Amino acid sequence: MSILRGEQVHQKIWEQRKQRSPGRSAGAPGLNCLVLGGGGREYAICWRLANCSSVSTIDVMPGNAGLGLFTRVIDRRADDAHWLQQHVLASHIDLAIVGTDELIAAGIGDVLRRSGIAVVGASREASKIEWSKSFAKELMDEAGVPTAKWESFPDAAAAGEALERWDAPVVVKADGLALGKGVTVAQTRDAAVEALASPPANSGRVLLEEVLKGEEASLQALVDGETVVALPPARDHKRVGEGETGANTGGMGAFSPTAVLPDDQAQAVADAVIAPIAKALARRGTPYRGVLYAGLMKTKDGWRVLEYNARFGDPEAEVTLPRIEGDFAKLMKALGDGRLAEYVAENPMRFSRRAFVDVVLCAENYPASPKIGMRIEGLDRLPEGVFAFHGGTKRDAAGNVTVNGGRVIHVVASAETLAQARELAYVAAERVAYEGKFYRSDIAGQEVAVA
Ligand code: AMP
Ligand code: GLY
Repeated sequence: MSILRGEQVHQKIWEQRKQRSPGRSAGAPGLNCLVLGGGGREYAICWRLANCSSVSTIDVMPGNAGLGLFTRVIDRRADDAHWLQQHVLASHIDLAIVGTDELIAAGIGDVLRRSGIAVVGASREASKIEWSKSFAKELMDEAGVPTAKWESFPDAAAAGEALERWDAPVVVKADGLALGKGVTVAQTRDAAVEALASPPANSGRVLLEEVLKGEEASLQALVDGETVVALPPARDHKRVGEGETGANTGGMGAFSPTAVLPDDQAQAVADAVIAPIAKALARRGTPYRGVLYAGLMKTKDGWRVLEYNARFGDPEAEVTLPRIEGDFAKLMKALGDGRLAEYVAENPMRFSRRAFVDVVLCAENYPASPKIGMRIEGLDRLPEGVFAFHGGTKRDAAGNVTVNGGRVIHVVASAETLAQARELAYVAAERVAYEGKFYRSDIAGQEVAVA
């Protein structure tokens, strides 16, 4: 696949629209797609769809400022089930991809499936693997997937008492969805006590876990019942500070490929840590259809699963979706229709050799409540080979692009080597300007240093 520059992608999709006008009538050629969410991950999904000749139109809810350049942005909440079902009918939607964890946990995948279209998005029941960490742990034990030792408690007080037995270092995890911010790796007993006393661990079920040591990797796979197809592995940088220090975030940057989990081992690892889960869910009568992501650690005793997410990773999607060769929209449609095994038998999965690096430009005060509203400049001054995948951005009344969330712009660079991609990403990161901008300067640094 030739990777198009951002502007070329926009131009291409508009040309396609013109040629196929009126694109939204029943039976018109090309896929009408709907993507739910409005962050960098959803931008990556749309960008990759826009690169497919099979795609006719793309709708996004609620979208962001950048998505408005090449998709139809529907500026309303994406969890209005009744409205969504009407929209699917009225706009002849063929394929829906649910991007965010909240929407998947809210059962929007189920709502869309009732409309009879292809849906990439796990059911509410199957996505419990993400919205309840204790459920995920039970399932791992049942399926024989290796993970850190754990114990689950009804509340922080009960976990606090158990610290007598557990002691530090220990991992404190809130059971529910926490946007990547619900985990504290406590080196001391005091730090564990503090974590248990603060949100989100101080409200509801809590887990204590053994601290594992090793290198982390992110492995996403397409799962359709018992069929599991690995996507390109990636690495993510979760901590806000350089050298992996400070609070956990949704992710400060990512890169793919990675030497920790090379492309040619992806399927074997997915067979070991994702396929048994897919089987267990099918056995329980809640089969999985969508993207299942395993957060992994390579310990001296082998791979261990830290967590599962019921969706594409963010920022992993930004560096892995551009590496998937072939017609991504047709692949997603096959998954959404429940035809993944047949489709990949005829169209084997191939990853491009190009390296991708995403450096996330954040808003002041992220991951706590970010400061928003500032005007963003320099998006038109990026070097060749770099795209600005919009995350938390919004267009103001005067048409300026402004900060509207914690992870504002993902500068996504591609090159022959990871070192070149990294260099390009940092040139671009400097050129984008807004008040309060900050980013980590060590994304992919270690990997490049040892390469
Ligand atoms: P999670 O949201 O469960 O992936 O956790 C976020 C981050 O916390 C992971 O990427 C790890 O860096 C760290 N973490 C989670 N669980 C453990 C563990 N058992 N041992 C060491 N680090 C962990
Ligand atoms: N990058 C981690 C996540 O998507 O949760």
